[in-house]
Amino acid sequence: MAVERTLSIIKPDATRRDLTGKVNTKFEDGGLRIVAQKRVRLTTAQAEAFYGAHKERPFFRSLVDFMTSGPVVVQVLEGEGAIQKNRDIMGATNPANAAPGTIRKEFAESIEANSAHGSDSPEAAAAEIAFFFAATEIVP
Ligand code: CMP
Repeated sequence: MAVERTLSIIKPDATRRDLTGKVNTKFEDGGLRIVAQKRVRLTTAQAEAFYGAHKERPFFRSLVDFMTSGPVVVQVLEGEGAIQKNRDIMGATNPANAAPGTIRKEFAESIEANSAHGSDSPEAAAAEIAFFFAATEIVP
């Protein structure tokens, strides 16, 4: 399988509880290397742009408010099949449906405050990585 990169965000519910290290251990134990990482506070404009695909969804405004409610850790994960691997390690969007041992099963508070975001396709990964990182900030 090809080596891929994907964009991951450790969300405000997780940074608030100091779970960054535990989430990163899940990624590294699962075979993903963190090749870029920074802790930032998203502006409303950034969160709206990042989640633009969800603009018409009923949860959009609440999602933007949540994503700007505290720091997030944005990161690039690299590994074989990294996009699907990351999604497997995160578990289902709704923690009620997430498999045991996944980030969302162990840490998520709700379908919104679900601790982690991961790109869902190669196209999304490329766009989302470029949204947060310059090529020079990614160090394999
Ligand atoms: P994420 O993978 O970051 O993509 C969109 C986010 O919207 C999702 O995780 C959740 O944090 C949030 N969200 C809130 N309500 C819903 C919902 N009903 N369905 C899907 N995503 C939701």
